[in-house]
Amino acid sequence: MMLLFIFVCLLLPSFLLSGESNLTIDEDLDIERQLKLLNKPAIKTIVDDGDIYDCVDIYKQPAFDHPSLKNHKIQLRPNSYPDGLFDDDISSSTNGTSIEIGLKDGNTCPSGTVPIRRVSKDDLIRMRTSFKNMKMNPPVKNDETHVQQQWAVHITETEGLYDFYGASVYINVYGLPQVMQKQFSSSLTWLVNNLEEDQINTISAGWTVSPVAYGDNKTRLTASWTIDNFQKTGCQDTSCPGFVQISKKLPLGIVVSPLSTYGGKQYGLNIVVYKDPERKNWWFFLGKDRELIGYWPNELFTALNYANQIHFGGLVGYLENSKKPPMGSGHFPSEGTNRSCFFSNIQYVNDENKMHELMLGNLSPHSSLQKCYDVGSYFRKGGEFGNMFFFGGPENCP
Ligand SMILES: *[C@@H]1O[C@H](CO)[C@@H](O)[C@H](O)[C@H]1NC(C)=O
Ligand SMILES: *[C@@H]1O[C@H](CO)[C@@H](O)[C@H](O)[C@H]1NC(C)=O
Ligand SMILES: *[C@@H]1O[C@H](CO)[C@@H](O)[C@H](O)[C@H]1NC(C)=O
Ligand SMILES: *[C@@H]1O[C@H](CO)[C@@H](O)[C@H](O)[C@H]1NC(C)=O
Repeated sequence: MMLLFIFVCLLLPSFLLSGESNLTIDEDLDIERQLKLLNKPAIKTIVDDGDIYDCVDIYKQPAFDHPSLKNHKIQLRPNSYPDGLFDDDISSSTNGTSIEIGLKDGNTCPSGTVPIRRVSKDDLIRMRTSFKNMKMNPPVKNDETHVQQQWAVHITETEGLYDFYGASVYINVYGLPQVMQKQFSSSLTWLVNNLEEDQINTISAGWTVSPVAYGDNKTRLTASWTIDNFQKTGCQDTSCPGFVQISKKLPLGIVVSPLSTYGGKQYGLNIVVYKDPERKNWWFFLGKDRELIGYWPNELFTALNYANQIHFGGLVGYLENSKKPPMGSGHFPSEGTNRSCFFSNIQYVNDENKMHELMLGNLSPHSSLQKCYDVGSYFRKGGEFGNMFFFGGPENCP
């Protein structure tokens, strides 16, 4: 199983740099074997928006192939919720513009099964050959191994405020069909334990346009985790073992719609990730109605009792010396309302399992390449937005 895990994590150094490859017979066999293990027997198969979802036995989903989860007892819902999670003033705050996604009614998985996006051979080949390029690294320690990624984010100030047990945020969502092959553009919240590089534990969640991961340019719900800043471990969605899917109708990787239009109506996703104080698993909820998606078991992590930083904003990946993808709405934060992508209603969960708004002094902006991707100041908007910031930048920035 360890072998499987390593393969699934696509740690084949000889491929890390190349953008393309021809498979040898051995590699081809590996991929076939991996496919067999990942794609579990389906009780029902759902086609949604061109994607194939297999409804697999909830107890036999890919998560449980992870070596650390051999003795994991599945949890069907959290033992408790953070105080404030269902407060009206928070959950109704983005009235009318919060996207509620999911498999269409009458097309959800039967009871006792969960939808897992089917991984194709092409997906595995693409991910294998472009792995270095697609990792959802948090914006820390930007050394030369990450030269093909750029961030424009807000990061929590560590002074006096550093034990985070969750984050809740409204992320404005755009379509970015301009994202090309071998690129991705994501807008994410990262819960990070920022230690030595090879010990960085992270969970991230948000939306992405990633031809690298999905083979198309659709905007999708995504989530990732790693325990070493994606050096040897890490996984996006359910494309390898780790995340335990609980919802019958809301799979990771699902296409998001409707999308915001530049200068027009704006939509967004309410994202919540928090740690259940009893069982210590990290739960993922979506939408105004706090629909439960699933969780990352505590056993996956080596250092995530709590996060010591939360990061919010955009991340893009691309091949060295090639064109750059757009970030956010594809427009700079200076364009503001209805034109630039934003995060609003930014909250965290404290050590007493209570939700709190992040105050203006609690976040500071960081941009790795400001002339291409920028992030505006964190400011008080009030009303349905609370505190917010804009971020992003156009494609093909020189
Ligand atoms: C793959 O193999 C074909 C035929 O041998 C060759 O023409 C092509 O350039 C190879 N592609 C790569 C990326 O090596
Ligand atoms: C949200 O929508 C409901 C029903 O349409 C309306 O009654 C309420 O005033 C709205 N709240 C806000 C904050 O806009
Ligand atoms: C996005 O994907 C669609 C469907 O595959 C394709 O027709 C379109 O050309 C793509 N957009 C760009 C800008 O590549
Ligand atoms: C943003 O769009 C909404 C509705 O589409 C409109 O009511 C509002 O005036 C716009 N705001 C700005 C600053 O353009």
